[in-house]
Amino acid sequence: MTEDQFMGSIYQRFPVTIERGLGAHVWDINGKEYIDCMGGYGVALVGHCNPRVVKSLKAQLDKIITVHSSLYNKTREEFLEKLINISPPSLSQVYLNNSGTEAVEAAIKFARKFTGKKGMIAMNGSYHGKSFGSLSVTFNPKYRKAFEPLLSNVSFTPFGDIEALKSAITPDTALIILEPIQGESGIHVAPDGFLQEIRKICNERGIVLIFDEIQAGLGRTGKMWASQHWDTAPDIMCLAKGIAGGVPMGATLLRPDILACYWKR
Ligand SMILES: Cc1ncc(COP(=O)(O)O)c(C=O)c1O
Repeated sequence: MTEDQFMGSIYQRFPVTIERGLGAHVWDINGKEYIDCMGGYGVALVGHCNPRVVKSLKAQLDKIITVHSSLYNKTREEFLEKLINISPPSLSQVYLNNSGTEAVEAAIKFARKFTGKKGMIAMNGSYHGKSFGSLSVTFNPKYRKAFEPLLSNVSFTPFGDIEALKSAITPDTALIILEPIQGESGIHVAPDGFLQEIRKICNERGIVLIFDEIQAGLGRTGKMWASQHWDTAPDIMCLAKGIAGGVPMGATLLRPDILACYWKR
């Protein structure tokens, strides 16, 4: 394929050239139809070229494409209000970014600044992205090895093991980050009670609880947020993938007091 000459792809590719998509179907350049079981790894959450997404994008393109957040914009205001209305009530602030890994980077930085601590606890089997901060809390040695040393002060504990997690906590623990349902390492569902117990520990110890809902959130598990299956809300929630129907976007939702720490020098 000619694209291989120019594309710095890091994925093994299928010899199929996709031209268009609609809902759960895609078509190649020869008009052959496929059912898309990949869905862009969770990005095409509302289907390819969802008519409502296409209509909104077209309308916006005719108005303006970029408005820096040092200025106001009514479309953004409407979006933020809708997002906050479907999110856990404690999370009323949104920090917008462009991808899942950026949403996690921001979460880590806010949690460290807010607590003034550096320690991080993540789960065995976790996946949070491939930039340096998010890779530091991603478990798989295959992704990490070539880039070490990553951020220090990260402990990994078995997903679902509350005692192991408790013993990993130190006075310097700033944050605990996890996917309520792990995706990349296989579909691992948090055992009942696990999230609630972590929530309790974080409240008692002043640790920031971060849920990465980048893959499991936005309705993919039958509730808007995977963590709602256990009636638990985080202090920071990371979103991306399906949030913009295929346009690159990420969002870090925060408690207002955590967001406010940004302004403290
Ligand atoms: C749970 C989870 N977190 C973070 C990411 C990173 O997102 P992105 O690829 O948009 O940087 C992914 C991507 O697969 C993911 O599944």
